[in-house]
Amino acid sequence: MTLQFALSPEHPDTIASPCVVVGLYQGGKLTPAAARLDAASGGAISRVTASGDATGKAGTSTVLFGLAGIASPRVLLVGLGDAAKCDVATFQRAAGEAGRALKAMPIASAHTTLTEAEIPGHDLAWKLRALALATDAQAYRYRATFKPKSEAEPAQLATLSLAAADDATARTALTQARAIAEGVRFARELGNLPPNICNPAHVAAQAQRIAQQHAGVDVEVLEREDMAKLGMGALLGVAQGSANAPKLIVLQWRGGGDARPYALVGKGITFDSGGISLKPGAGMEEMKFDMCGAAGVLGAFLAAVELKLPLNLVCVVPAVENMPGGNSYRPSDILTSMSGLTIEVLNTDAEGRLILCDALTYVQKFDPQVIIDAATLTGACVVALGKHASGLMTRDDELAAQLLAAGERTHDRAWRLPLWDDYQSQLETGFADLANIGGKYGGAITAGCFLSRFTNGRRWAHLDIAGTAWIDGRKGSATGRPVPLLVQYLLDRCG
Ligand code: BES
Ligand code: MN
Ligand code: ZN
Repeated sequence: MTLQFALSPEHPDTIASPCVVVGLYQGGKLTPAAARLDAASGGAISRVTASGDATGKAGTSTVLFGLAGIASPRVLLVGLGDAAKCDVATFQRAAGEAGRALKAMPIASAHTTLTEAEIPGHDLAWKLRALALATDAQAYRYRATFKPKSEAEPAQLATLSLAAADDATARTALTQARAIAEGVRFARELGNLPPNICNPAHVAAQAQRIAQQHAGVDVEVLEREDMAKLGMGALLGVAQGSANAPKLIVLQWRGGGDARPYALVGKGITFDSGGISLKPGAGMEEMKFDMCGAAGVLGAFLAAVELKLPLNLVCVVPAVENMPGGNSYRPSDILTSMSGLTIEVLNTDAEGRLILCDALTYVQKFDPQVIIDAATLTGACVVALGKHASGLMTRDDELAAQLLAAGERTHDRAWRLPLWDDYQSQLETGFADLANIGGKYGGAITAGCFLSRFTNGRRWAHLDIAGTAWIDGRKGSATGRPVPLLVQYLLDRCG
């Protein structure tokens, strides 16, 4: 369940909320809400800044209890950094810190006035949406595989009230936030589930549930035999080593009359062991996240449907497990893809492109106006861009600009890598039309080049989310990226 969002124009000193969040700049400058609380409490806020207990540094927060003259029992002071330099990054940091602090409090609701922060080029609607989403992201807890607790748990943040007048613009911002938050939560939960639960059949069941719960959504799940009839030899090659049967999931939303659909394709490797080209043991557990492209496009689809976007959307997810076994595909196998192109497998760990190439061929039967795929495709992309930007590859400059802008707006950013033909020769082999790996250099790009061979010159973009789809480590978690970017892109297409 996502947080509930509400709008309230009430003053921060008189609102009866378990906690009021106010911003503070470095050097003691107060936001209007903080100044109001300061006046109402006889200078309680300025005393805390004068003493140095609250510095206003971005990413810091201080909680104050029981201030006289203030209706709320708690005041959370959140640092907004240098007033002259408050930008999107600082704002996101402050919003995240506020969410983290609120989540740790034994309270079910809170009121935030961080909407008052001035960020050049960003209006109230943007701030409302960003605050709502950042708080919801912090409030998410993975609980699915824990033993239910017998003791009563302390109250958990469930409602966030935001300081703004309740008008149409503000309501639209929160409606969008709610839908995106739902898509992000869907993607995170699916990503975080262990691969013994989240296998291809489970992913298919989730898609079927989306269709059941939303009027106007059609779902179809293709089985191994269906895919064999279509000649999906690349996808089936990857799948043949696993006891978990592959699924090809197709979801459709028709909100746009007879317009050509937008197509989303997501890599759904529910576990990537590497296959016969087995991965090393250390860190292999992270390969449960190798279906985050699938989770991301399904989450974006869910959000688009919740928003009843006036466009047509088709979402294709190949869900496959990559395992070693007596029936596994091997290095040097030649697979015939649905497109007819033959592929020499030189590394069974370059499996994502093999399931995606057949999905990309299949999705063209819907004659989409744009195809966007999302995939945890290459470690090379993480080496190139780190964990902050997704890799964007497309030959279409307009599509690139639209996707980059959508990423900026949602702070779910991407960075473009070239797809020049110069790289294509790295995929040449004497035994088939192309090889599934491109050698040592430019691995993210050669993977993109591989996919491009199956797009028949259509408007297509590839997002490599290997670095952005999850935060690693023992306490890591799926991030839900690129749901915000994709939903913003679709929103922008609706005028
Ligand atoms: N799922 C991995 C990519 C990956 C690796 C994502 C690490 C996030 C972190 C993908 O299937 C893979 O194994 N790619 C290989 C490609 C290589 C064999 C050409 C890689 O990146 O090493
Ligand atoms: Mn792999
Ligand atoms: Zn993989």
